[in-house]
Amino acid sequence: MRVIRTPARMRAMASALRRRHRTVGLVPTMGALHEGHASLIRASAARYDATIVSIFVNPLQFGPREDFRRYPRPLRQDLALAAASGATAVFIPSVLAMYPPGFCTGLEVGPLAGRWEGRARPGHFRGVATVVLKLFNLVQPTHALFGQKDYQQALIIQQLTRDLQLPLTVRMLPTVREPGGLALSSRNRSLTPGGRRRAAVLSAALRQARARLAAGERRPARIEAQMRRMMQAERGVRVEYAAVVDARTLEPVRAARGRLALLVAARVEGVRLIDNLLVGVS
Ligand code: PAJ
Repeated sequence: MRVIRTPARMRAMASALRRRHRTVGLVPTMGALHEGHASLIRASAARYDATIVSIFVNPLQFGPREDFRRYPRPLRQDLALAAASGATAVFIPSVLAMYPPGFCTGLEVGPLAGRWEGRARPGHFRGVATVVLKLFNLVQPTHALFGQKDYQQALIIQQLTRDLQLPLTVRMLPTVREPGGLALSSRNRSLTPGGRRRAAVLSAALRQARARLAAGERRPARIEAQMRRMMQAERGVRVEYAAVVDARTLEPVRAARGRLALLVAARVEGVRLIDNLLVGVS
């Protein structure tokens, strides 16, 4: 596995790869890699001729009071996990190389970015979209893989790929979870063992909502209230939102029908966690 540290080297490798290989998969990450990231890397390595994993903690997508400085950066472990999962190369640019002094361009994202995570974290999706477009441009992948764990993010990347007619396919892969249901996240590292146990309530609330839908409940407000109640009942869990939305637009629905996304966000021990489930209701 090669380690590439500059945009110029990445560009050079990208054109070499595209000459030699039919398909190139890109898995963008911020590092602190876990089994969720590994599942994306393995899926890419299984399907595409070459797989690039980018590791870049992107300052543009962190708010001023967020955890950019404290975000974990276990580089040696990350390289080992990327190699074991089948990466051809890892791209680890510096902040200075990605955002040299004077950098000021940002990608405007539409209504998808206005709700939920976008509302809670102003500027977040602008930062995500901007860095992902830069990564697409430097790596020139034929395919890019994202996790359903960050469902709103994946929809926004699909939208920008369509809107800008980028010559690549964006794929969304299922969320990898701990046996207790907790969605894997780099931020779980900041939880105590007790916090980790309590954080499983996010996924439990989602599963309960799915069961209520299966049992015939169609009132979104009822389902949302129940998710909220169940999470709040857990000590140390502060709910930010619990929503039943249209899976395509992420807008609230009047009746729970069609393709729905169940979205939750909560703080556990001060750590902000999100999760979701997709449900089809006929
Ligand atoms: P990061 O949080 O490191 O996630 C990188 C990719 O891994 C994303 O596509 C995310 O959805 C996916 N992922 C995270 N946890 C997962 C899980 N439990 N199961 C499956 N996939 C999971 O998302 C980002 O980084 C950044 O915003 C990025 C896209 C790299 C832009 O900076």
